[in-house]
Amino acid sequence: MRNVAVLALCAIAAAAAEPATAARKKPAAAPAKQTSPATAPKPADKPKEAPKKRWGKSKEEAPKPWYESIPQWAQVILAVLAAEFLYCSFIGGRSWLPKSKGCHVIITGGSEGLGKALAHKLVARGHFVSLIARTRSKLDAAVLEINEASKTKKCIGVVGDVTSSSSIESALQAAERAQKLPADAVVCNAGSAQPKLFLETEGDTFKRQMDLNYMGVVRTVRAALPGLLERDSGALVLVSSGLALTGYAGYAAYAPTKWAVRGLAEVLRSELAATRVSVHLALPPGMATPGFDKENAEKPRVTRAIEAGEPTHQPESVAAALLSSLQRGHYACACGDFGLGLLVRAGSGLAPRTTFWRDLVLLPFIAIIGAFYRRMWDFTVRRDASREDAVEKEYPVLNEALKSTEATFNDALQAADDTLKRLTSDEAPAPAPGMMERLLGKKEEPPAPGLLDSIMGEAPAPAPAPGLKERVFGAPAPAPAPGLLDSIIGDAAPAPAPAKK
Ligand SMILES: NC(=O)c1ccc[n+]([C@@H]2O[C@H](COP(=O)([O-])OP(=O)(O)OC[C@H]3O[C@@H](n4cnc5c(N)ncnc54)[C@H](OP(=O)(O)O)[C@@H]3O)[C@@H](O)[C@H]2O)c1
Repeated sequence: MRNVAVLALCAIAAAAAEPATAARKKPAAAPAKQTSPATAPKPADKPKEAPKKRWGKSKEEAPKPWYESIPQWAQVILAVLAAEFLYCSFIGGRSWLPKSKGCHVIITGGSEGLGKALAHKLVARGHFVSLIARTRSKLDAAVLEINEASKTKKCIGVVGDVTSSSSIESALQAAERAQKLPADAVVCNAGSAQPKLFLETEGDTFKRQMDLNYMGVVRTVRAALPGLLERDSGALVLVSSGLALTGYAGYAAYAPTKWAVRGLAEVLRSELAATRVSVHLALPPGMATPGFDKENAEKPRVTRAIEAGEPTHQPESVAAALLSSLQRGHYACACGDFGLGLLVRAGSGLAPRTTFWRDLVLLPFIAIIGAFYRRMWDFTVRRDASREDAVEKEYPVLNEALKSTEATFNDALQAADDTLKRLTSDEAPAPAPGMMERLLGKKEEPPAPGLLDSIMGEAPAPAPAPGLKERVFGAPAPAPAPGLLDSIIGDAAPAPAPAKK
C-alpha cells in the first residue's frame, strides 16, 4: 500500500517537473536551425499548422494544466520527498516485529518507566512480554497492571540484575521457559543517570554508571545473542539516550555511558549485517519516569538551567514512537522528539539514516540551529558561573552579618538563663512584701471556712447567712390578701364532684 503511494507520489513529482524541464529546453533548440545539413530539420520538425479554434478559443488560450502552476521550488521538494519514500521503502531497514501477533519480547528494566510503557503497548498488540528487574514487588505490580489492562496473561516478571552476568543469563532463560517461547527481541533498557559536575562526581560513580548503563547492555546482549543467531532471526534494541548525540554540563558520568552504548550498537549492526538479526538504537528524550524524578532531585543547578524549556515527554508517547519507528525498520530512533530528530540527522555519521534525502536538504539548517544551541548552553554555563562568583564575593560580608546576629542572640539567651538560675537558686532573696500581689494582681480572699466542703458535698452545708436567700432569689412574694384570688378568678371554685363508680 505504501509502495503504491510512493509510486503515485513519484509520478506526481515527475509530472510536475517535466513541463518545467521542457520549458527550459525550448530556447536551446532554436540555434539548431542554422547548423549544417546533417542537423537539418526532419520532416517531423516541420512547423505545425495553426491550431483550430475550439469552442470559440484557440488551443494556446486553453487553461494550463494544474501542475504548471506549482512553483519550481515546490517541484524540487516534491521530487526529494518522492526519492525519500523510495529510499525508505526499498533501501531502508528491516521491520523488526512481524506484523503477526505472538512474538516474545524481553525487556530489562521493565518494571517502571519506559520499559513498562513499552510492555503495555506490546501486550496490547498481542505479543508476549517478559520484564526483568531487581525488585520483585515492583515487577509484580507492573505485571498485574499490564495483564489487567490487556485482560490477558501474556506478561510475566523475572527477577534479574544486569550488573551480574550469571543473574541476567539465568533471568533470560527463566523468561523463555516461563513463556515457553524463545526470545524474538530483547530490549536492553535498564539504566539510570546520576547527574553531577565532573569534579563533584565521586570516582566510584563513573565506574558504577558504566557498569549499569554500558556493561549492563553488554551482558544482556552476550546472554541473548547466541539464541537469536541460532534461530537467525530477531532483534536487539539498545536503549541509549539523546545525550549520546550531544553532551552538556552535569552529565559527566552518565553521557559517556550512553555514547558507549551508541558505539556498541553501530559495531553490532555491522557485525550482524550478514545475519537476519537486526540491531536498533533508541535515543529517548527526557521522560517523566521514576528514574527521571530521582535524577532531578540531585541535578546541578546549571544542568537544570540548560534543560529549562526542554519538553519532558510521557513514557507512553515515547514508547509508541519507538515502536512505530522499529516497526518501520529504522536503525536510530529519536522517539518522537523533534529536536532529537534533527540531532539524529546531524550526528548519524556513517550509521544508517532513516531519511537520507531529507537529511541532505536539512543538514545546513541543522548546522545553523546547532550553533545557536551551543552558544545558548555556553551562555547559561557562564551566567551560572558568574552568579557563583558573585555569591563567593558577597560571602565574607554575609558571613560577618550572620556571625554578629548569632553573637547578639547568644548573649541574650545567656542573660535570660543567668536570671532564671539566680531566681530559682536557694540563695535567691525572698520577694519583697506585696511584690507577688503587684506581679500577679490583687490578692484574692480565701473562701469562707467549710464552703469548699459544702460545694464538694463532704460536709453538711452550713445554714445560709440570714438574708442570703433573699439576696440571691429576691424578696419572698407576700401572701395574697384573703379573697383576692376569688375576686380575680370569679366565684369560689365548686368542690369537685364525687368520682363515679
Ligand atoms: N527518563 C529519562 O528521561 C531518560 C532519558 C533518556 C534515556 N533514558 C534511558 O531510558 C532507560 C529507561 O529509563 P527510565 O527513566 O524509564 O528508568 P526508570 O524509571 O528508572 O526505571 C528503571 C528500571 O530499570 C530497573 N533496573 C535498575 N537497575 C537495574 C539493574 N541493575 N538490573 C535490572 N534492572 C534494573 C528498575 O527496576 P529495579 O530498580 O527494581 O531493578 C526499573 O524497572 C534507561 O536506560 C535510561 O538511561 C531515560
